[in-house]
Amino acid sequence: MLQKDFPYAFIYKVKNFEKHKNNLLNLIFELPENKIETNGCSVSHSDYFSEQKSKKEYVKYFQENIIKDFAKFICEKFNCKFVNFHQVWFQVYNYGDYHKKHRHPNCNLASIFYLELPHKKLITDFGEYKVEIEEGDILTFPAFIEHSSPRNKTNLRKTIISTNSSLLND
Ligand SMILES: [Fe+2]
Repeated sequence: MLQKDFPYAFIYKVKNFEKHKNNLLNLIFELPENKIETNGCSVSHSDYFSEQKSKKEYVKYFQENIIKDFAKFICEKFNCKFVNFHQVWFQVYNYGDYHKKHRHPNCNLASIFYLELPHKKLITDFGEYKVEIEEGDILTFPAFIEHSSPRNKTNLRKTIISTNSSLLND
């Protein structure tokens, strides 16, 4: 459920989630571990900065099995013909990991697919906007809305796949 005061935010529930979860996690964790450690961001494993992300197996799997239906959902919500996904990447948050407040530039929408969300404390923080998310949800929101990933103080792992996209009419 979304609080009604979070404008233009939508939740899409991924079909056959358990199957896709296992397959995507296998594909993500077969990639060499790649840690991001910058000012304001600590993530245990991510391909955000890696080249040729679109050629990765998990991206192909995501495109073939999930994005098509998800794009249809977005087009219905925003009354547009197409969605252009500019970017897809994953982030793994282990104990101590976090991502400070930020926005997603150069796109209309940001989406977060919660592949592993073992505790509510790990839900993305939108400040004044409260969201109720569960594993298997893709949360989509205007890319300019500031958000952060709270520091993981649990020993449980959070894994997300994120996309940046824009709406097209022709
Ligand atoms: Fe973000």
